[in-house]
Amino acid sequence: MKKIAIVYWTGTGNTEAMANEILSACKDKADAKLFFSDNFSKDMVDDFDRIAFGCPAMGDEELEEISFEPMFSECEEKLSGKEIALFGSYSWNDGEWMRIWEDRVNKDGAILVNDPVIAYDYPDDKALEDCRNLAENLCK
Ligand SMILES: Cc1cc2nc3c(=O)[nH]c(=O)nc-3n(C[C@H](O)[C@H](O)[C@H](O)COP(=O)(O)O)c2cc1C
Repeated sequence: MKKIAIVYWTGTGNTEAMANEILSACKDKADAKLFFSDNFSKDMVDDFDRIAFGCPAMGDEELEEISFEPMFSECEEKLSGKEIALFGSYSWNDGEWMRIWEDRVNKDGAILVNDPVIAYDYPDDKALEDCRNLAENLCK
């Protein structure tokens, strides 16, 4: 079984709902653990085969700056060749933050196991299905 970390930040619960959907879809298929971004750090990256990072659009098409961004930017040193996935919620623009984030991890040399999954506001049925598909690819 693959060891998977699902590492997320949420302000109002939308990205958290995505993280929980991914976690439950991994059940029995992988050894998956959920971490709020405060509780994850760069030294934990090597403990997992794959990592799903989740963060909503914050600031001006940015990652959340107090908890998630500092944790993520430290982890980036270890993402070259790492199999990861990205997800998160947005509601002011068109998902630009995720395109920026995807470019960033591609430059880091990370390998995306699934297209990034984005949800407008609280994840609807389609977004939850996308989360389950992402989980399936994470567990493969
Ligand atoms: C301070 C702040 C900044 C935000 N910036 C953006 C943004 O740049 N683009 C966007 O599409 N949504 C933006 N949003 C909307 C959030 O991404 C949206 O409400 C999202 O669903 C929150 O997810 P969460 O419930 O996981 O915190 C912002 C919200 C807040 C509170």
